Amino acid sequence: MKLSGGRLLTGIELDRTGSVPLYRQLYLQIRQQILAGRLPGGTRLPSTRTLCKEQDLSRITILNAFDLLTAEGFLTTRTGSGTFVCAEWEGRGTAVDEPRKPPRLSTLSQSVLSLRSDHFSGISYAAWEPDCPTSFLPSHPAFDAFPLHVWRRLINRHLRQSTKAMLGYGEVKGLLRLREEIAKYVYDARGIDCSAEQVVIVSGAQQAFNLLGMLLLDPQDSIWMEDPGHIAARIALQAQGCRIVPLRIDAQGIDVQQGLRECPEARLAFTTPSRQHPLGISMSYARRLELIEWASRNHSWIIEDDCDSEFRYQSRPQPSLYAMDQWARVIHVGTFSKVLYPSLRLGYVILPEALVGPFCAMRAVMDRSPSTLLQAATADFMSEGHFLGHIRRMRSLYQARQACLLDKLQQRVGNFMQLKPVDAGMHLIGWLAPELDDQFIAQELARYQTHTYALSDYCMERYLPPGLLIGFAGTPEDQAGDKVEALAQALLKMGYTL
Ligand SMILES: Cc1ncc(COP(=O)(O)O)c(C=O)c1O
Repeated sequence: MKLSGGRLLTGIELDRTGSVPLYRQLYLQIRQQILAGRLPGGTRLPSTRTLCKEQDLSRITILNAFDLLTAEGFLTTRTGSGTFVCAEWEGRGTAVDEPRKPPRLSTLSQSVLSLRSDHFSGISYAAWEPDCPTSFLPSHPAFDAFPLHVWRRLINRHLRQSTKAMLGYGEVKGLLRLREEIAKYVYDARGIDCSAEQVVIVSGAQQAFNLLGMLLLDPQDSIWMEDPGHIAARIALQAQGCRIVPLRIDAQGIDVQQGLRECPEARLAFTTPSRQHPLGISMSYARRLELIEWASRNHSWIIEDDCDSEFRYQSRPQPSLYAMDQWARVIHVGTFSKVLYPSLRLGYVILPEALVGPFCAMRAVMDRSPSTLLQAATADFMSEGHFLGHIRRMRSLYQARQACLLDKLQQRVGNFMQLKPVDAGMHLIGWLAPELDDQFIAQELARYQTHTYALSDYCMERYLPPGLLIGFAGTPEDQAGDKVEALAQALLKMGYTL
């Protein structure tokens, strides 16, 4: 409504008990109304006397607010006529009140969004309570067993001697000391003979997959992916516009013969040979050779995601693909997410020499190196023997946790799901009857705070029975019974018979 004395100021609500001064609240609210187009350019505001009465404010409060708005170009005063919204605001800002249109996004981000919604059946970390006692989330290490006291000491050591080196930008490749420790570790543990110059520290394996996709792939290139396989890596590579060729997993690992039949010219193969994710199979020696020979003949790349190779319980690990490769076609990616903790966001890439420079150039554009402080603490953790000690302790802890959880699951829900011990990794698979929908069951269980993952989320083609991924690493033995009982009760409430 416009009056001769100026437009009424509606919608002003002042909080007289809060800590924000009244003049500032008035300033912010008038400013917001101008920006939103509710007070268009040219509008005359009520006189200060009217406003004093309407808003029950002192004149000085109103003058203070008007002064600020005038200084910022929102209001102007015409001597003898009053205070007006500046003419520049005419026709501006009205769009703010219109229903919000979705933002215009690039083709890349539209494809990431749609791939994510296609592949994740709705289990999200947003719904997961960190302290939830009934969670079986598969990728979670034993947070309760992480040696925080040692970690705190190492972090404090570097915080105390904070130098420019600790606080400034780090080297794009990552901290040399950490790269040297990683080169030593992969030599001993994975048979990889590389120099520290070939090791690049990244903010987790996921960043490496994205960078490698940008570095090596063009839209329309074909890539072999394990089916079922690691979802986040698949999305990162698929979002580059690549065509995914899903390859089945048999008892020896990824089916290379299927790849040769369906798409021999693929540019890249993504694989998790030390513990196929999520089925847990270790790739046979013969299959490793077959894969490497294909890559060398075809000048294709292999990304070896070595996640979880540390947690092997019975058999000895096979040599890594990188160690077997004489043609420099394999890129080895490791992570500290499982051995230390995921929010550390530290991983590493071991590159053939020719790729080091281009990879680092790409990395420098996307990001710099991860926090030097955390890299320095991780380097100490490794050089002082805590790393290997922790792996050894976690190996036996996870073995005991697996045995205990498996026992309780078999006793209580063994008629509903079939379970077998795994030789590697941090989760079991509970195989369900073929007519059941694992995505629906996982979603419903999450509503009862029992978090698992559906196997079919990981699948591109349906050739496996449905199943649930049930993490055991984060389940202490004295909690296993209660957790399994919560799972059983949730299944009963959902109407299943056990
Ligand atoms: C198969 C696989 N690779 C790699 C990773 C590690 O990713 P990041 O280092 O980004 O945490 C995960 C994490 O769950 C995984 O499941």
